[in-house]
Amino acid sequence: MKYYVVTRIYLDELKAWDIYWKWRWFTRRMWESEYWGEVRAAVKPVLDIISKFDVKSILDCSCGLGYKTILFAEAGYYVEGSDASREAVKYAPKLAREHGFNIRFFLSRFDELDEKCGRSYDCIWSDYFDEINTYEYLMLSAKAIYSVLKEGGIFMFTAPNKEELAEIIEKEWKSRRKITIHPPYKKGSIRVIHVEVAEKTSEGILENNIFLIEENDSLRAEIAQIMNPRIKWTYKNFKEILAKIGFKDIHIYKGLIIAVK
Ligand SMILES: C[S@@+](CC[C@H](N)C(=O)[O-])C[C@H]1O[C@@H](n2cnc3c(N)ncnc32)[C@H](O)[C@@H]1O
Repeated sequence: MKYYVVTRIYLDELKAWDIYWKWRWFTRRMWESEYWGEVRAAVKPVLDIISKFDVKSILDCSCGLGYKTILFAEAGYYVEGSDASREAVKYAPKLAREHGFNIRFFLSRFDELDEKCGRSYDCIWSDYFDEINTYEYLMLSAKAIYSVLKEGGIFMFTAPNKEELAEIIEKEWKSRRKITIHPPYKKGSIRVIHVEVAEKTSEGILENNIFLIEENDSLRAEIAQIMNPRIKWTYKNFKEILAKIGFKDIHIYKGLIIAVK
């Protein structure tokens, strides 16, 4: 058999997320059941907090394939999902339908939410806002989020629970596998092997997601580099930014930052 080998490395973060979600969707039967357990555990404390506020509508603004979005719907909330990855929001409605939910998903970066939402929400949730790369982009994103929250609405996101970021990075690095080779997954004429290679950096963990794709006589590698997690900002940084935008009652509780409009 003759093989043609092509390698593409995606360094642009948004493009890399697209590649990541494209192949994660393709291979999902392999990892999904374990992932449901992880997202259920992650969403439980979020639901506990939300239940203490007067929340009916939620925007999950870094929804990925929408696993957490579905859990918000399952808990009885009106929910929508948005993400900057076109691939993610393409597949998310299919996943939701499989679980019996008709959820609106739309393409939007955080900073564009004011143009893309077309409505406002009682709660905006993100598991990625804390991983934004620059201070300027944090400000722009927080402003857009503020603009689509109802008066008295809450913005909630995950955050580091300590000020010493180097320590958090070290702990994360020690606890995670450095190389993971997932078993091959075949569907139709395509066979994919996903290899994850982690690197420690001064701003968090850089994940090299290498997808080896065999199709007919060709083999190609698509490599998506993502910071996962990026650990760059402290609670103090977030508090300062959110206060500047106009948020009030900003506090941190069990690794979640909660701010009220
Ligand atoms: C950790 S993943 C989300 C996982 C997902 N919430 C879940 O529970 O499975 C982070 C998400 O943030 C998205 N993202 C990255 N930069 C973004 C931006 N500037 N605006 C909105 N979403 C962004 C990525 O496309 C990715 O889907």
